[in-house]
Amino acid sequence: MDKARIAVLVSGGGTNLQALLDAQAAGIIESGEIALVISNNSGAYALERANKAGVSSETVIKADCGGQEGFEKKIEKLLEIHKIDLIVLAGFMSILSESFTKNYPNRILNVHPSLIPSFCGKGYYGLRVHREALAYGVKVTGATVHFVNEIPDGGKIILQKAVAIEDGDTPEILQKRVMEQAEWKILPAAVEMVCKTIVEKGN
Ligand code: GAR
Repeated sequence: MDKARIAVLVSGGGTNLQALLDAQAAGIIESGEIALVISNNSGAYALERANKAGVSSETVIKADCGGQEGFEKKIEKLLEIHKIDLIVLAGFMSILSESFTKNYPNRILNVHPSLIPSFCGKGYYGLRVHREALAYGVKVTGATVHFVNEIPDGGKIILQKAVAIEDGDTPEILQKRVMEQAEWKILPAAVEMVCKTIVEKGN
């Protein structure tokens, strides 16, 4: 195998997807290629980003699939059709069940906007994570890239990066700093690390 085939699962703006596309163009990701983007939201700007980069994209809406099981079956089918080796959750705001995650051990990555095990788990996503970090009064936060297993945000940690909290931070300001200083750097780096391992193993 020359390059691992990557599917990126998204729900919204897709700045982490953009960081991956840019890293691929810059040669930072060289052991993998972004082959597919799947969104669970038809209005996601991430779909535009995929389109602009010439990457195939699909929208899978849970309600149209009759619930979680049908939703996951549809995603599995797409992953099979596109011969995907690695799944990257990049701002994907839907929890995948154990019956899905167990089929891809060490083959699903997620980026989370805090230093796990702080401010993580079910219900902790997007701006809420930063709101809780500010409410707690921590002085340092950051981002984590980890493997995905059946426990929300509970899989093995691959990379983390710390980010300072500053006076006057709002959840929005903090979110932007965590993205710029941590997420957009460690996500491409972790994706390259895992793709390299997949290519070396040959499957
Ligand atoms: C990112 O901050 C990502 O870490 C977070 O949502 C944002 C998505 O932004 N994900 C989670 O909270 C998952 N628990 P993006 O669509 O611009 O990449």
